[in-house]
Amino acid sequence: MKFKITENVDWVGKIDWELRKFHGEEYSTHRGTSYNSYLVKDEKIALIDTVWTPFAKEFVENLAKEIDLNKIDYVIANHAEMDHSGALPELMRHIPDKPIYCTANGVKSLRGHYHKDWNFQVVKTGDKLSLGKKELVFVEAMMLHWPDSMMGYLTEEAILFSNDAFGQHIASEHMYNDLVVQSELYEEATKYYANILTPFSPLVTKKINEVIALNLPVNFICPSHGVIWRKNPLQIAEKYLEWAADYQENQIAIIYDTMWDGTRTLAEQISKGIKQADDKVTVKLYNISRSDINDVVTEVFKAKAILLGSPTINKGILNAAAALLEMMKGLKFKNKKAAAFGCYGWSGESVKLLTDRLSEAGFEIISDGLKTMWQPGDAEFAQALEFGKAFAKKV
Ligand code: FEO
Repeated sequence: MKFKITENVDWVGKIDWELRKFHGEEYSTHRGTSYNSYLVKDEKIALIDTVWTPFAKEFVENLAKEIDLNKIDYVIANHAEMDHSGALPELMRHIPDKPIYCTANGVKSLRGHYHKDWNFQVVKTGDKLSLGKKELVFVEAMMLHWPDSMMGYLTEEAILFSNDAFGQHIASEHMYNDLVVQSELYEEATKYYANILTPFSPLVTKKINEVIALNLPVNFICPSHGVIWRKNPLQIAEKYLEWAADYQENQIAIIYDTMWDGTRTLAEQISKGIKQADDKVTVKLYNISRSDINDVVTEVFKAKAILLGSPTINKGILNAAAALLEMMKGLKFKNKKAAAFGCYGWSGESVKLLTDRLSEAGFEIISDGLKTMWQPGDAEFAQALEFGKAFAKKV
């Protein structure tokens, strides 16, 4: 599959309908994804990014049907992660001497991944590559989301090739933002931001403001995953500025793991208490061991406060709650309140452990938590209800 974006710019990537886990098992992709590669034709011809390694052969064979590979003058590697650079070894086998334009960190990463001494051409922000009538202007985007990340702006066509930024994991035969279901598009774009870009929010704000200050026209934003933004393309940049500013909605997420339903029933009572104190707030409950961790992280991203529950096991907490804490610590959420809860039979360490780890992960702890012994009964349910009310009031 290929399609034209403009007369001189083609999409030549790969739609991956089957992908359900990305970054190993780290990220769930319920709607598949695409690896977007772009061919820009002017007096000179540039190929921007490639596709993931398993599709390398197919990608190069298809590309060769579009263009004599020897006619490609420049290869642009905006990002060295394998989902975009994975077909470079196969491509460069055919055109070994062609220059690869990337950042200085890009050279390190590409050499580190593939151990090849290709004809690297290092570029920095503001460097221009003339293609004839059009120019490709490079913009380094360090830590958005790797040290080597880079974007390119194509003059005349006013296209921003943004690489991972503004992407979404969506496989669709409709590759434009105005042709897909908007709620699905934003669900995936939000999940992508929450799970990948949150730790880099200050840099997101800085980079977007830097690009906006250039006052360039933007007709298309072409990311490296998912659909191309062509209808009001800057809407996603505006959304990113909102998400980068310690985003939150009027939502409280209650997340728990449970062994024999004690902690689950506490969670349900707490949610009732919250709703009794504040009927406007959205309360969502997730059993973390039965939920998709990336979807839960997205709900944490949207929440102004969370409650995390686990019973005590072996003086510790259950695995799924520990995995979520580890993930949240790395994501560095800001401006979110939290507390812990859980039931126990003997020693009862879980609530303190959860509280300490929530604090380490950057949450503001607003309560000592709720700890109850054995299966909750009427007294514990009443206690959980009051705990929920008090938590809602403090939030
Ligand atoms: Fe950072 Fe889509 O790779």
